[in-house]
Amino acid sequence: PYGYPGELAATLIDEDAVRSKVAQLAAAVAADHRHEQPPLLVCVLKGAVMFVTDFARSLPIPAELEFMAVSSYGSATSSSGVVRILKDLDRDITGRRVVIVEDIIDSGLTLSWLHKNLASRGPAAIDIVALLRKPAAVKVDVDVRYVGFDIPTDFVVGYGLDFNERYRDLPFVGLLGEHMYR
Ligand code: PRP
Ligand code: MN
Ligand code: MG
Repeated sequence: PYGYPGELAATLIDEDAVRSKVAQLAAAVAADHRHEQPPLLVCVLKGAVMFVTDFARSLPIPAELEFMAVSSYGSATSSSGVVRILKDLDRDITGRRVVIVEDIIDSGLTLSWLHKNLASRGPAAIDIVALLRKPAAVKVDVDVRYVGFDIPTDFVVGYGLDFNERYRDLPFVGLLGEHMYR
């Protein structure tokens, strides 16, 4: 039972599947960072908020958390390509091993812009972990080291992903009913 009866067409990735994939991704990232300084997780608000909190708690190594808010969609259902910083990092990332934590790669515009932006600040390394990727929709090539699920191009919501700021609070990833955005 959840709060949006009749609005979703189906569950795409249920809570259990999300949980085990997040743990898998955390194990993979930890294995690559074990002998290094603690990674600095950069959560891309707002979409990645659920993912980063579960991810950080699954990570078997210490990590630090930073938040950056960018928006490329606004209230549109497809990316405008114009990325705005709504909230910047609070700290200098010079010399740090940064792991960008993102909920979804759609066109790839947000991440390719963000990767360039953070790379210009002199970090020791930047890796990207994304829970979801829409391969058919990727317009820009982004070097994403860790991807949870490749999914179809349907409009997905939940687990941080919104449509007009709704559905972020769902604990699973669902397909938005077509009647909700057509
Ligand atoms: C969404 C999503 C990703 C981005 C992916 O964010 O959370 O950050 O779009 O799309 P792209 O690969 O085509 O750039 P949005 O701009 O909607 O902001 P939000 O995270 O606050 O919802
Ligand atoms: Mn986002
Ligand atoms: Mg959004």
